[in-house]
Amino acid sequence: MLLQKTLLSFFFFSLLLLVQSKHNHEVEEEEEVVTRSMFPDDFIFGVATSAYQIEGAYLEDGKSLNNWDVFTHHPGNTGRGENGDIADDHYHRYMEDIDKLEYLGVNAYRLSISWTRILPRGRFGEINPSGLMFYNNIIDNLLLKGIEPFVTIHHFDLPQELEDRYGGWLSPHMQEEYVYFAKLCFEKFGDRVKNWMTINEPNVFTQFAYMRGTFPPRRCSLPFGNCSAGNSDVEPLIAAHNMLIAHAKAVKLYRNHFQPKQGGIVGLTANAFHYEPYTNDEFSYQAVERSYAFNVDWIFDPLIYGNYPALMRKYLGKDLPKFSKEEVELLKGSIDFIGINHYSTFYALDCFNSNDCTSTENRAIGGYTGRAIARNGIPIGDEMGVFGFRIVPYGMEKLLNRLSLRYPNTSIYITENGYCPPNYQEGTELLQDFTRIKFHQTYLASMSKAMRKGAKVKGYFVWSFMDNFEWIQGYNITFGLYYVDRNTMKRTPRLSAKWFKDFIANGEKSSTISTF
Ligand code: GAL
Repeated sequence: MLLQKTLLSFFFFSLLLLVQSKHNHEVEEEEEVVTRSMFPDDFIFGVATSAYQIEGAYLEDGKSLNNWDVFTHHPGNTGRGENGDIADDHYHRYMEDIDKLEYLGVNAYRLSISWTRILPRGRFGEINPSGLMFYNNIIDNLLLKGIEPFVTIHHFDLPQELEDRYGGWLSPHMQEEYVYFAKLCFEKFGDRVKNWMTINEPNVFTQFAYMRGTFPPRRCSLPFGNCSAGNSDVEPLIAAHNMLIAHAKAVKLYRNHFQPKQGGIVGLTANAFHYEPYTNDEFSYQAVERSYAFNVDWIFDPLIYGNYPALMRKYLGKDLPKFSKEEVELLKGSIDFIGINHYSTFYALDCFNSNDCTSTENRAIGGYTGRAIARNGIPIGDEMGVFGFRIVPYGMEKLLNRLSLRYPNTSIYITENGYCPPNYQEGTELLQDFTRIKFHQTYLASMSKAMRKGAKVKGYFVWSFMDNFEWIQGYNITFGLYYVDRNTMKRTPRLSAKWFKDFIANGEKSSTISTF
């Protein structure tokens, strides 16, 4: 009996060791594997921000109100009533921030232009010289330090005047408004800015603004959301349609009038999750295809092939706006690169043939697919601070492999990838953010696997340079390599900032967290 017991405990002990050593092994492998030298010499390693999320100075030096200024001032629109009036006060601290970018050793910085800072009333008013000066100073100082500006022209914020006059992106008038804004950017900054993204995440913006009604102008209909007006079935499609055509018109202008002389490139950034089948049957695989079609191909198919994906056309029929012949020609091939913001992976639910789609909360446009974060009670990955986001490093590789198959000739930049802790900066995670380091190591390793299989990835930007105003979730969600003290505005590098700096500088040596 005693012998039996001893043997049994020995067996379990060995099993434990085996499991542990496998676990350690995996961790070691992930940490050892990623080095700067695994990427081409000219690979871009940068950090990203956007204007409304960091600038503050919301009514200074001639800037006027944008949709987010107005929206966040309405009680109840953001989680804790927070807004971007001050944000990270970057408007007054940009020199200090550029020093920090230099410290990180990044060769690029992704920023966006606040529309109302340079065109307070869109086409209906004057150009604001102070706004131009602000961005000129940033661009010049970045270049002095050898940091390439990657500029997003429109990242969620637009003049309130255009929202009031037109109903924002629901109106085709916004196409010309946008082209006017983009032209000014090319004219004033294009001699020094060589990398442009026309629009950030039309797929996310339109779903939040016109389907769920959580972003300005807060339009939606039941069952997707409870708004005073809107139509969740068609408005997101119309708004995205206008954004895509606006993009294509701006690119035509750039290619005809600016690119030959300035020699830059222009792309568009969309959000892209990866989708795994929920069950192992044909319907689930079809749900994966539909999820990709309705979320990702929705944006890139028109920009590369000139039309919406076949699956969207098949299921949405008349609800899906149509491109005219001229628009098809305008759109086809209208990006020099694909910009991808990648955060998470979901199980794709089939809402046609299964009863898995129990709530409308997780349904994609059209309601033909849903998404889940667990299967048989097992979560797809560890939790992050944004509801539903999970850490699933392999999703990066699978997403890139898929994009490479669908768009084989187009370069890709990961314009955002980042981690926020599930609980607001508790304990050591405030500065000793080991999970964030691990997140980037494993996602970079996964990205490099896809590159070895042929994905034409040219750059990777961490979201975000520093903690900032995370839209409706305010300052509670922290994505920064730098921690920002909300009372003093002091920026402090987290361990991850030091890790990223070391990673970029170290070449062949792997920078693991143990180097600190
Ligand atoms: C993206 C967006 C960023 C940032 C990020 C983190 O959708 O482009 O502005 O908020 O998500 O959630």
